[in-house]
Amino acid sequence: MQASDIKKVLIIGSGTMGRHIGLQNALYGCDVVFYDINEEILQKALTHIGKIAAGLVRGGYITEEMAQAARARISMTTDMAAAAADVNLVSESVPENIELKKKVWGEFSKYLPKDAILTTNTSTLLPSMFAESSGDPARFLAWHFAMPVFLLNIVDVMPHPGTDPAITEIMIEHSRRVGQTPIYIAKEWPKYVYNEMFVSLLAAAQRLVVNDVASVEDIDRAWMVIMEMPRGPFGIMDNVGLDTCLAVTKEAVAADPNYPYGKEIIAMFQAKVDANERGRKTGKGFYTYPNPTYEQPGFVDRVYPKYKK
Ligand SMILES: NC(=O)c1ccc[n+]([C@@H]2O[C@H](COP(=O)([O-])OP(=O)(O)OC[C@H]3O[C@@H](n4cnc5c(N)ncnc54)[C@H](O)[C@@H]3O)[C@@H](O)[C@H]2O)c1
Repeated sequence: MQASDIKKVLIIGSGTMGRHIGLQNALYGCDVVFYDINEEILQKALTHIGKIAAGLVRGGYITEEMAQAARARISMTTDMAAAAADVNLVSESVPENIELKKKVWGEFSKYLPKDAILTTNTSTLLPSMFAESSGDPARFLAWHFAMPVFLLNIVDVMPHPGTDPAITEIMIEHSRRVGQTPIYIAKEWPKYVYNEMFVSLLAAAQRLVVNDVASVEDIDRAWMVIMEMPRGPFGIMDNVGLDTCLAVTKEAVAADPNYPYGKEIIAMFQAKVDANERGRKTGKGFYTYPNPTYEQPGFVDRVYPKYKK
């Protein structure tokens, strides 16, 4: 099998991620079938996929014709056997729960073609944790996307020790075929590449603030200017949502009792959440929205060429 043999893709789970991954494959010429637990969810997904595509048309990333052609390649079903028929590639995006993922893969393994490539979009689990339930660990690996998929076109390709290297190669190639930049993860690693760096950045910024080393604004300024970024770590946290930051930190502290300043960081987020300052979505977090100060002139003083002829 080669990447060009991937003509039909099954998306298991038509939620936030499944919709984007399915549309991405359809935009680049694959037939895409979605499977979910009921018709209502699938219809909602179809409507939302139309909106995602319309946004890409408005932004000038694709044409109306491309959006319509992609739409024509998409179908939806709640029938597992029908969903699995003749697919060459499977991308699973059911909720991040290992028992659920094992169950879904176990059920689908009875119907999937014997040569289909089997991928999971898990964020935090390792593929080896549930490779067995897929029915053929050698064809199983993680194919992990960033949101929004079309625009943040970085995808992790992470095999587990039992994945056939030829399958990994095909997925690296297929990633390119569908407009994504593959990041090959040579060994299983929780959080992949970007998230590993991202989580460390945020944790460092949080440590600085809970120790009263510098202000939120100054920490963001330093990052924004030196890294040439539109926002700093606290602006990013506001966009992620401070309730999510609280949940993620609680989990990390539970897993590592020596997590540096875990108690203080949790208390900082808890106070924000209790005050309903959950970030951009509630209009207030570390900054107020819309028009947070970090987006206003004068927040950073960047140096621009003045004397260039
Ligand atoms: N949201 C993100 O930004 C993001 C980014 C990368 C990876 N992920 C990962 O992607 C996966 C899905 O996340 P999401 O944000 O799309 O979740 P979601 O809750 O938005 O969507 C999950 C979908 O799975 C469906 N589902 C539930 N049980 C099912 C079953 N038994 N069979 C088939 N479908 C079922 C749900 O109805 C829903 O449509 C998770 O593993 C998550 O860690 C999420």
